[in-house]
Amino acid sequence: MEIKKVCVLGAGLMGNGIAQVCAQAGMEVTLRDIEQHFVDGGMNTIKKNLSRDVEKGKMTQEQMNALLGRIKPTLDLKEAAAGADAVVEVVIEVMDVKKKVYAELEEIVPKHCLFFTNTSGLSITEMASITKRPDRFIGTHFFNPVPVMRLLEIIRGHQTSDETLEIAKAWGKKIGKEVIVVKEAPAFVVNRILCSMINEAFFALDEGLASAEDIDKGMMLGCNHPIGPLALSDLVGNDTLLRVMEGLHRELGDKYRPAQYLRKLVRAGNLGRKSGKGVYDYTKK
Ligand code: 3HC
Repeated sequence: MEIKKVCVLGAGLMGNGIAQVCAQAGMEVTLRDIEQHFVDGGMNTIKKNLSRDVEKGKMTQEQMNALLGRIKPTLDLKEAAAGADAVVEVVIEVMDVKKKVYAELEEIVPKHCLFFTNTSGLSITEMASITKRPDRFIGTHFFNPVPVMRLLEIIRGHQTSDETLEIAKAWGKKIGKEVIVVKEAPAFVVNRILCSMINEAFFALDEGLASAEDIDKGMMLGCNHPIGPLALSDLVGNDTLLRVMEGLHRELGDKYRPAQYLRKLVRAGNLGRKSGKGVYDYTKK
């Protein structure tokens, strides 16, 4: 089966990027969120990204308009999911919320529709278990910013079929991503390594080993990372990082204990770029 119509649930940081790359690959896309300002925010980000590409001469205004015409923003779950070949779910990283969405979806989508979850680390098998299609359920983990980052990490659940895996891999390739397939485990592979490293940077900051700027500078200049770990946490969202670390800690033990400073930032509402403040202050720029 070829995926031609995609329903993306969640218009935030990752969701709008996924909608963009799908439309860029010629697919029909619905972009659904629960409040109008989330949907508007997602569409505005896509328009901003594409306008930048037009300015750089990477695409024409006509191509941009055609691409935008393939993305239908909506608040209505039924309208969004009806007729979809695949639903890419990018809702908040809370198992019960995700399960509720899948229970609703089950009644709306066609029988052949595949469920792709963009979780940062929750169990694919557990989510799939509440649906009537665990064989057609798979993890598709994207990286921020989605239009730029080349990787798609695909995670099989316990009951994911070979056919679903092959379709997901072909879809990943079509939207311009390199695919790796990993076994299900807390935070999978990339986030297990990456988030542990970022968490360690928060411990170093909390212990006063160096300033935030110098920790980031150290990792950029010493290890050739494009961005320092603390700035990266602000980019992906400190709340997202904390949720990944809490999951790792819960499942794999004390080695993955979240840094207290990270908890404090999240409790203060300093979630990173999206809230204006995180480790760094973005309100002054
Ligand atoms: N959306 C779309 N395009 C973007 C973008 C965005 N949000 N941000 C930057 N770009 C594009 C720019 O337009 C530019 O395009 P060009 O090459 O055509 O000119 C290119 O990316 C480079 O951007 P800039 O020159 O403005 O800035 P940088 O060179 O500093 O690159 C970056 C920005 C690409 C974000 C770079 O800092 C980077 O690669 N950082 C690491 C990102 C990373 O590690 N992501 C993974 C996070 S983990 C994750 O997402 C998993 C989750 O589960 C936690």
